[in-house]
Amino acid sequence: MIPTIEWHNNHVRMIDQRKIPGRIEWFTCRGYRDVIRGIQVMVIRGAPAIGVAAAMGLALGARSIRSKLYTPFMKKFEKIAHEMLLARPTAVNLRWAVERMTRLAENMAELPVIKIKSALRQESEKILAEDIEINRRMGKHGQGLVPKGSTILTHCNAGSLATGGYGTALGVIRAAHESGKKIQVIADETRPWLQGLRLTAFELMEDGIPVSVIADNAAGSLMRRKRIDLVITGADRIAANGDVANKIGTYQVAVLAKINRIPFYVAAPISTIDPTIKNGDMIPVEERGPEEIYRFGKREIGPSGVRVLNPAFDITPAKYVSAIITEKGVIRPPFKKGIKSYL
Ligand code: MRU
Repeated sequence: MIPTIEWHNNHVRMIDQRKIPGRIEWFTCRGYRDVIRGIQVMVIRGAPAIGVAAAMGLALGARSIRSKLYTPFMKKFEKIAHEMLLARPTAVNLRWAVERMTRLAENMAELPVIKIKSALRQESEKILAEDIEINRRMGKHGQGLVPKGSTILTHCNAGSLATGGYGTALGVIRAAHESGKKIQVIADETRPWLQGLRLTAFELMEDGIPVSVIADNAAGSLMRRKRIDLVITGADRIAANGDVANKIGTYQVAVLAKINRIPFYVAAPISTIDPTIKNGDMIPVEERGPEEIYRFGKREIGPSGVRVLNPAFDITPAKYVSAIITEKGVIRPPFKKGIKSYL
């Protein structure tokens, strides 16, 4: 498994996911604004990976603050944290990481600023290590839901690259594969960024897990023909009632799964649950630029000046979700009660 993000000397570097599978290249961040840019232009993407990047970005930002006195240091740190929060709106892991880092700095008011800076870097390393561990635990809990010899549909990339390592949805798939279940995967290509074709297929092929890629619009037909046994996706934010925000196209997969009586599972860490959001309608959905739709690579393929809608995520109502797989265990409906007991 290639790493997603790491400290390298005094910089943060991330594998540039825009270039996979063609090239495996590092994108080096010398300051926190490089991290923000990396998140915005999708050098790094996937909810937990964005959280890790935000934490490392804040540690980088803290290092660049010149003041040695706590109050002015904190004032600047909070400004950086605010900028970081605006990088991308949907994945709540970003806010979760920013709040964890800010709390840490707030609780160290009596220490010299230099100590706070090094504690922030250590905390960002801890968040990365914890994320990998959480995904392994999620895999163990989730793999019990995967029957031997089954075919699993997944959407987007909820793999090692979308996290600190191992993956959420792909973590469950990896755990099922490691336990010898002889599974296979169907990956939606996931227009317009093609995370399924470029990243999920790449990761699974590297691990020797059989994978076939389909055009997004083939999923329904394959379900009707009984070629898919279950669906597992990741999530960017889960509301208190179990509604799930995930990559655009997830909703239609969930509805099709329900109609075809196929279980639809969501694998996500507890940090993806946002108890402040009552239901999915309140989750902010990112709108991205039109060129992602009318261009293919560098080539414009739509008629010049065509209007485009490009919501990057959608909301799957809880009624279509069979279970939510977390590092603490599997939450079954009714989700409102189940989620509360897991927080
Ligand atoms: O736009 P992206 O690539 O950041 O969207 C990613 C997804 O929607 C993933 O499914 C989600 O973040 C879960 S990743 C473990």
